[in-house]
Amino acid sequence: MIEIRNVSQRFAGPQGWIEALHNVNLTVPPGEVFGIIGRSGAGKSTLVRTINLLTRPTEGDIVVNGRTLTSLSSADLREARREIGMIFQHFNLLSSRTVFDNVALPLELAGMKRPQIEEAVLPLLELVGLSAQKDRYPSQISGGQKQRVGIARALASKPKVLLSDEATSALDPETTRAILDLLRKINRELNLTIVMITHQMEVIKQVCDRVAVLDAGRVVETGPVIDVFLQPRHEVTRALLGDVIAQELPPALKARVAERLAKGSGHLLRLAFTGTGVDQPVLSETIRRFELDFNILHGQIDEIQGQAFGSLAVLAGGDPVKVAQAIAWLREQGVVVEELSHVD
Ligand SMILES: Nc1ncnc2c1ncn2[C@@H]1O[C@H](COP(=O)(O)OP(=O)(O)OP(=O)(O)O)[C@@H](O)[C@H]1O
Ligand SMILES: [Mg+2]
Repeated sequence: MIEIRNVSQRFAGPQGWIEALHNVNLTVPPGEVFGIIGRSGAGKSTLVRTINLLTRPTEGDIVVNGRTLTSLSSADLREARREIGMIFQHFNLLSSRTVFDNVALPLELAGMKRPQIEEAVLPLLELVGLSAQKDRYPSQISGGQKQRVGIARALASKPKVLLSDEATSALDPETTRAILDLLRKINRELNLTIVMITHQMEVIKQVCDRVAVLDAGRVVETGPVIDVFLQPRHEVTRALLGDVIAQELPPALKARVAERLAKGSGHLLRLAFTGTGVDQPVLSETIRRFELDFNILHGQIDEIQGQAFGSLAVLAGGDPVKVAQAIAWLREQGVVVEELSHVD
């Protein structure tokens, strides 16, 4: 469990103070993959560096597994940090060391003897799928393999928490998926809590249980990933979601919809649903019950953490009273309905 309590971070800038984090409060439950997403400059890296006190917060406390890191002596903090591993966007491997020796480094630094090091490192290389590459140098392996080395090295000191700052941002989509699958596997098999910093909603969708959206140093939205996808509340969240769920109608369609709405005929709705809502013929049932005409403009069915998730833009035509009844009924069925009354 990680608790970030009332954390603020100020840096001295050329034009005065930069408030990189403003009264951030977050709780990361043990064993979860927790995503922190935000635009560039939102404060994500600052926040993740604050969790292991690489940057000490100006205000507030960090509590990891019951220990308040912000009030530990430097010796105790060094010890506590061994429970927190970290991986980076650019892997940060030592080019003069082999794959094996990169993973062994934290153990060497901790004074472990060679036979014990071998005993610890070989299974880690197996876990990340690099046994065959153990004697290669970083220049002789791919980006995805480098990140696997980074992950194995982070796991060497048997941490309970893994912090990841844009660990897949330098990788292509296929390699990203493989690394995210690996992180998920480690999360499950080792019961490791993972905090994942990213600017890509795709990463959140693939691997996170819960997400917090950071904007200008503030947490503007947080919740289980499926809930945030169903009902994004903040405009930044919606903008970031635009990459994975079409939020915008194609231009030609937009023009036609605007025309119909201007004539006062039709309601533009966004429907979002998960699980049973996806399987049940909710839409056709709605059309029958309320004698409506539903024109599906745009949509997609996807999967988030094994749960079906659908998002549709619909132009509903018919008696306005019946449209209102249909919306109420859809909501009773667990469908999130949002009226997009205007098209701009
Ligand atoms: N050591 C520092 N000194 C001064 N300002 C800093 C320092 N570190 C970060 N900042 C500022 O704090 C703000 C947040 O930076 P941060 O690196 O945390 O953003 P980020 O969300 O990680 O962005 P990106 O997605 O580009 O990595 C920025 O305005 C940045 O310029
Ligand atoms: Mg960053």
